[in-house]
Amino acid sequence: MIRIEHLTRDFGGGRGIHDLSMEIPKGKIFGYIGPNGAGKSTTIKILCGLYSQTSGRAFINNLEVTPANAKRIKKIVGYMPDNFGVYDKMSVWEYLDFFCAAYHIPPKARQKRVQEVLALTNSQHMLDYQVASLSKGMTQRIGLAKTLLHDPEVLILDEPASGLDPYARIEMRQTIMRLRDIGKTIMLSSHILPELAGVCDLIGILEKGRLLAFGTVDEVTRQVQENLKLSVSIVSGMERAQQVFADFPEVQNLECNGNEMHFRFNGPRGKLPDILTRLVANGVSVAEFREEHADLEEVFLSVTHHN
Ligand SMILES: Nc1ncnc2c1ncn2[C@@H]1O[C@H](COP(=O)(O)OP(=O)(O)OP(=O)(O)O)[C@@H](O)[C@H]1O
Ligand SMILES: [Mg+2]
Repeated sequence: MIRIEHLTRDFGGGRGIHDLSMEIPKGKIFGYIGPNGAGKSTTIKILCGLYSQTSGRAFINNLEVTPANAKRIKKIVGYMPDNFGVYDKMSVWEYLDFFCAAYHIPPKARQKRVQEVLALTNSQHMLDYQVASLSKGMTQRIGLAKTLLHDPEVLILDEPASGLDPYARIEMRQTIMRLRDIGKTIMLSSHILPELAGVCDLIGILEKGRLLAFGTVDEVTRQVQENLKLSVSIVSGMERAQQVFADFPEVQNLECNGNEMHFRFNGPRGKLPDILTRLVANGVSVAEFREEHADLEEVFLSVTHHN
């Protein structure tokens, strides 16, 4: 649904985005993660036809993003910028009605459409509120409602949860999942990492304009985790277990905590069963032997070399 091929935008001095390629299938939520200045908004603006690229290509629904296709792209894409202005002296209804007109929605259909987008964003009660009186969370919801007016297949949301309190973030997350469930393809950027893990089907980690990892949260975690993290619960035979571990040079940073042992395994995953077999053969009674998965925050820090 969204495809970019070797996309580059050079702002000089190494700034911009460099040779990005990725593909986001229909009906998925893609989380675009990166520190400030990584190039998230630049990528998003190219996809929406607001910036031109230095080289490479971008496609939405197999339609190449070019000035000639701009009108057709706008029909398919709903874009919510990171900072959007709202027209203060209007009610929510007037604001959305105004944008219905901008999207050439016929006057007769507008009231129904406004109700529909307010329902999708759980904002029906705000219909008569003054836009100026809305909190940040409410403003984001109305911004998203506006983005949905022309019923785009693809939603591109630049930092939709920024500045929101935890409740408003949960609300935003639920709304985004609801939109995915009705078939939208969604790309969203964020700094709030753990939050994305639960929502996104795919994530991409960007730093200094380069895509360092791409895939499902699990895939990225595996790609990135240099050492496997293991933990073993032992019922009896702790000393023998330690002797067994000492025979494996791949076992590092061994820590014992009561009956629990934690270590990093710096070797191929295929060799892990050998450890378990040796433990059992040496009479160690093992209650649990499991791999610990890094969380998204750890992955991000390790990929972007900030740890
Ligand atoms: N119009 C522009 N002219 C020159 N440089 C630009 C322009 N737009 C972006 N940049 C530079 O490109 C880099 C990427 O910026 P971008 O806004 O895409 O990052 P971002 O990941 O969205 O960051 P943030 O998390 O702060 O929103 C930055 O170094 C920025 O200064
Ligand atoms: Mg940005």
